[in-house]
Amino acid sequence: MTVTIVGSQLGDEGKGGVVDLYGDAADVVARYQGGDNAGHTVVHDGEKYKLSLVPSGAVRGKVGVLGNGCVVNPRTLFDEISTLEEKGLSPDVRVAERAHVILPFHRVLDGIEEDVKSEDDQEVGTTGRGIGPTYEDKAGRRGVRVGDLLDPDVLRERLEYVVPQKRALVEDVYGVDVEDLEDPDAFDVDALFEEFHDFGERLAAEDMTVNASAFLTDAMADGQTVMFEGAQGTIIDIDHGNYPYVTSSNPTAGGAAVGTGLSPNVIAEGEIIGIVKAYLTRVGSGPLPTELGGVEGDTPGYDEQGDGENEELATYIREEGGEYGTVTGRPRRVGWLDMPMLRHSARVNGFTGLAVNHIDVLAGLDEVKVGHSYELDGEELEAMPPTTEEWGRCEATFRTFDGWEEVDWSAVAAEGYDAIPENARTYLEYISDELEAPIYAVGVGPGREETVVVENPTE
Ligand code: GDP
Ligand code: IMO
Ligand code: MG
Repeated sequence: MTVTIVGSQLGDEGKGGVVDLYGDAADVVARYQGGDNAGHTVVHDGEKYKLSLVPSGAVRGKVGVLGNGCVVNPRTLFDEISTLEEKGLSPDVRVAERAHVILPFHRVLDGIEEDVKSEDDQEVGTTGRGIGPTYEDKAGRRGVRVGDLLDPDVLRERLEYVVPQKRALVEDVYGVDVEDLEDPDAFDVDALFEEFHDFGERLAAEDMTVNASAFLTDAMADGQTVMFEGAQGTIIDIDHGNYPYVTSSNPTAGGAAVGTGLSPNVIAEGEIIGIVKAYLTRVGSGPLPTELGGVEGDTPGYDEQGDGENEELATYIREEGGEYGTVTGRPRRVGWLDMPMLRHSARVNGFTGLAVNHIDVLAGLDEVKVGHSYELDGEELEAMPPTTEEWGRCEATFRTFDGWEEVDWSAVAAEGYDAIPENARTYLEYISDELEAPIYAVGVGPGREETVVVENPTE
């Protein structure tokens, strides 16, 4: 069977922790989109693992697959594998030959394009990992795929086609002299060929490349359990998110089929679990109707409005939840839970169950609010509208819940669902009712043992 883990909001919902929680019963953990823009945290035995590219199942010794829908930076991949090896793990990672390669010039272009957009306050606030430029080249049919690294003639031919175009883009369109860049070799065919041909040899020598579709189909035929680890979240999906403040891939459940080569029938026969953070965080720009406070450089209108009347509360939640980017260290924007966003997410993904994390972070507040619906031009909306301009004009209508007290959360996790403070259960049941999906797990702390497991999808 398959279990697909999907971020229901704006990323950083605690997907890594849930993959780790349920991953024990999985044989293979596969990523289906994104690249090293992801930052997934697994906390086990007091050790914190931060994973960008290696699937989170590595912490439990599972086979990890980077599917064809991923964009892979081999520098990051091998660095991350080494870091995990230093911690005593032996990650077994397979990379789809159809996955696209992030080349050094993609990162340079990501940075230049964000700089240019920032002149008109249009920047997305990307992670700077070259994700967008790599997916652009994939769609433009000029990308380099992992399989191309294994064939020197093909690799050279591809680089000779694409690199002069990128050099011209940087020099003639953006007016930047390549020789003035920190890494001028990023635009040098010979230097790129040498480095990436070596990566190809290493991937081949370590038998790391696969046809993901065939590999996963065989695993399923063998009766193995495959877990799909979504990265990012539904509201930064390139199709279903708040374009253009999105990433360039499909974190939504449909991406699991396209991004691995398994049939949608296979994904649909399994479980699709929506990971919900009990409040909201956002890294980067774009609207956020339930935002509390704001973050300079990311919150639209921050210059005129400042950090907002609820800044104290936002700071409290940010500090309690450690809401700083796993990849970039940037402070995350914070808001109340947004139901119109989640109803949209539930429709797009078809969640069969929910894992609601960070219930502990809200403990101790007198009251907890939720944006229950929106008001737009005098009309009430139950789900977020399709254009970002409309979404930016939506005013949230709030519902208020009584807060819950701080308790010994490890003891609660050990005892089970009924030990969760009553007011927190009322909050959880509201979320479950609105999204018409049962609660499978409740996160009450970052560790593997700090989760209340209601249902195990693999059993
Ligand atoms: P991901 O990108 O969705 O995997 O999430 P991140 O790892 O970027 O961010 C989630 C952060 O919250 C990490 O530091 C986790 O260790 C932590 N975390 C996950 N679940 C919980 C929870 O239920 N409570 C608390 N306090 N922290 C959690
Ligand atoms: P995980 O998997 C939160 C955001 C960036 C930016 C936008 C585009 O840890 O949940 P990109 O570099 O992808 O082109 O940036 O998407 N973003 C994330 N936000 N969690 C993530 O991943 C993210 N990956 C990208 O901040 O706004
Ligand atoms: Mg993250």
